[in-house]
Amino acid sequence: MTAQSNARHILSVNDLSESEIKEIFSRAKEFKEKGFSSSVFFSRDVSSVPVVALAFFEPSTRTKLSFDAAAQRLGLKTIGFDNPESTSSAKGEQLFDTLKVIEQYADAIVIRRKEHDTPDVVKSTSTVPVISAGVGAQEHPTQGLLDVFTISEHRDIESVNHVVSYGDLANSRTVYSQVRMLARPGITFSFVASEQMQISDEFQAELIAAGANVVLTNTLDDVIGDADILHVIRPQRERWGTDSHDMYATVDLETMKKMKKDALLMSPLPRVGELDPATDSDSRSIVWQQVKNGMFVRAAILEWILTN
Ligand code: CP
Repeated sequence: MTAQSNARHILSVNDLSESEIKEIFSRAKEFKEKGFSSSVFFSRDVSSVPVVALAFFEPSTRTKLSFDAAAQRLGLKTIGFDNPESTSSAKGEQLFDTLKVIEQYADAIVIRRKEHDTPDVVKSTSTVPVISAGVGAQEHPTQGLLDVFTISEHRDIESVNHVVSYGDLANSRTVYSQVRMLARPGITFSFVASEQMQISDEFQAELIAAGANVVLTNTLDDVIGDADILHVIRPQRERWGTDSHDMYATVDLETMKKMKKDALLMSPLPRVGELDPATDSDSRSIVWQQVKNGMFVRAAILEWILTN
């Protein structure tokens, strides 16, 4: 299972340079402000329009549909599945063979899967570009990208000095990608979670090595008043197995009264009790902007990876 080419993959936010991220954000902004008419694929003969495969081994609403919508709006074609039980993986086919199958039909692959060996298998197998749509509790790079793009619409990223992540952090891939993207010397990351749901020692060490300050607490009130961003993470029950977990307090309009006037409330969604839908009425909530921007950022990512 040795890859035949040096295909470019996006399996972590660390797979993109600062200048590449700027390029992707600039294109996403263009799509958002002017529509998709400048897509490079519109000028192509229909027989040479790239095909994007959407291979979702785990459930998704936002990520799958925004990739699909982005591809269609760019003039691309899509194939794929979102129920692995209807594919040959249900018969025991291994990922490296599934990838070899898909690359016979598609020019790029978007994959969501729970197993943490996914990036290694992709790198050793796929000859076409692969974009991670989230791997287990590891990373969700395109969510990290759309998060930072959405923050940048409201404030200068360099002015974000304190990010508070709240909830089931141990099992959240979105926290890892967002925080990695924002990490810089001097920034403070507060992680509010029970011991059972707290970030790993390795991730804490990685952030400290990057020059960030790290605060671990189980009390949101300790840090909420100083937060520039409050990132609310749902209980990831699908990853809990048989262990029992205590649920944490819902973030609601009362909680938001403790936030700074220019702070931002974010969530990757879905919300299942940890975030009161009534918070949508507060202009500091940017959760639906995150959802919408997912399509523009993923369009920019697809165009970039298929033309580089
Ligand atoms: N934010 C996110 O990944 O949502 P979905 O699971 O619905 O794709």
